[in-house]
Parts: sequence; structure tokens; C-alpha cells
Amino acid sequence: MTNGELYNVIFNRKSVRRFDMTPLGQEKLDQLKTFMQGVKRLDEGIKTEFSIQSGNEVSSIFAIKAPHYISFYSEKKEGYLINAGFIMQQIDLYLSANQLGSCWLGAAKPNKSVPQGRDGFEYVIMLAFGNPSEPVHRTGIEQFKRNSLSEITSIKGAEQLLEPVRLAPSAANTQAWYFSGDAQEIIVSRKKLNIIKAQLYGRMNIIDIGIALCHLWLSAEQQGKAVEFDLSGGPAPEGHEYMAKVRLRDL
Ligand SMILES: Cc1cc2nc3c(=O)[nH]c(=O)nc-3n(C[C@H](O)[C@H](O)[C@H](O)COP(=O)(O)O)c2cc1C
Repeated sequence: MTNGELYNVIFNRKSVRRFDMTPLGQEKLDQLKTFMQGVKRLDEGIKTEFSIQSGNEVSSIFAIKAPHYISFYSEKKEGYLINAGFIMQQIDLYLSANQLGSCWLGAAKPNKSVPQGRDGFEYVIMLAFGNPSEPVHRTGIEQFKRNSLSEITSIKGAEQLLEPVRLAPSAANTQAWYFSGDAQEIIVSRKKLNIIKAQLYGRMNIIDIGIALCHLWLSAEQQGKAVEFDLSGGPAPEGHEYMAKVRLRDL
């Protein structure tokens, strides 16, 4: 699977919540595992692990019934939630590009038969996946319920670069991201939340930022640009919290 194929599916992907419960064949699962081993990481210094489970290993009243789930575990280091979003979104796009359904599950936790930690790593998030029993793709941009570009960025002249970022999925479609600076150095921040919303979405919205960075990386590459991510602190627009700086240069 090329990065160009991952990029293309950004414009059609959607969450799939209804699945054919027949498990996928071993070959498809092996191909997925190979892809997972090669994903790009935002921070090479954060060790992570994946675990693929079957439907009966995962329980939650919120969980979507699917034949398979991928649980993501990570070392709890600075930036680990953004890194998780960045990595798992590549898998979400891979599944969609392979005509497989997938859905992020922030509300689900593996049940007791699946450890909350593995080798000292913390359980972070999960994706449900399998053969879809509903359409796996959108057929047009108008089917995305998303904020407009003017609502999520102050950068002028970067419409093509940021359109795929605008389409990124986020927990409960909160789209809490904001992009300022300029097209060479983008400051990525997220809306500050009140106490109640922070409890509901705080952690998820940081994972969302990683998802947006994944789309930004693929978009930049499509435009012949290399990106460098800087997660160390910096200033953010009023009402926002700084998340990352993304520097772009010609390849
Ligand atoms: C971090 C994260 C957690 C999510 N958790 C859930 C969940 O627990 N249950 C669910 O049905 N959808 C969940 N979603 C899916 C979002 O609701 C969905 O991505 C968003 O509404 C946009 O719709 P789309 O993915 O179809 O474009 C989650 C998405 C993200 C990115």
C-alpha cells in the first residue's frame, strides 16, 4: 500500500459501524500485520504495541460489534497520545483503502481477558474492523459533516494542503483542531475545553490531533513536501492549547 493510496482514500473514508461477523481470512490479517509493522511514527522514541482481538474478547456497552479489533498500547511518554492517533489513523486509512470497514472506539475498553497494560505499556485506544455490511465509502465530499476551512485555520493560500486535514475523523466529530502560522510552519493547537468537556473529550482530542497530523503528512507528501514535526511547546492562539509545530520543505 503506497502513501498515495492512503491519501486518496481520505476523500471517501467513513466510520463503519455495521459488520459482517464472518472473520477475515488469515492472509488479509497477515497483510494487515505487515502494514502495521511498517507504519510511520511521530516519535520513534515511544515504544508501542498492537494486539488484534476477536469480537468475543472485547466487551463494552459502547463497543460496536465487529469480528476483529486492534488495541493499541503505548509507553506513557510525552506526546504518546498524539503518536497513537498518528499511527492508528494510518491503519484506519489502510483498512478503508482495502474495502474493509473500521471505526475508532474511544469508549470501548478490552474486557478483563485482555490486559489493560502489556509489558508495562498502557492501553490507549481501539479500532473495530472487518468486512462491512454497510457502504464502506462516501461517494462525495458533501457527505462529510465537517467545519469549513475558515473555521479551522487562519492560514491563507493553503487550501489544497489543509482540505484533507479538514476531513479527518475525530472523537464525536468534535474537530477541536486549529491551524495557524503559515504554510511553511504550521502551528497546530486545540480548543481549550470547559471542565465537563475536558473530562469527556480531553484525552480523545489529543489523539484527534495525531489523526490530523497523519492527514497533514500525507497531504504535504502529495504536494512534494517533506514535514518535520516538533512537539516541544510554543505559543497558541487565544482560547487554544499548543500541540505541535509542523515545518514543511520541498522534497
Ligand atoms: C479518537 C476517536 C474515538 C472515537 N470513538 C468512537 C466510539 O467510541 N464510538 C463510535 O461509534 N465512534 C467513535 N468515533 C468515530 C467518530 O464518531 C467519527 O470519526 C466522527 O463522527 C466522524 O465521522 P466519520 O468517521 O464517519 O468521518 C471515534 C473517533 C475518534 C477519532
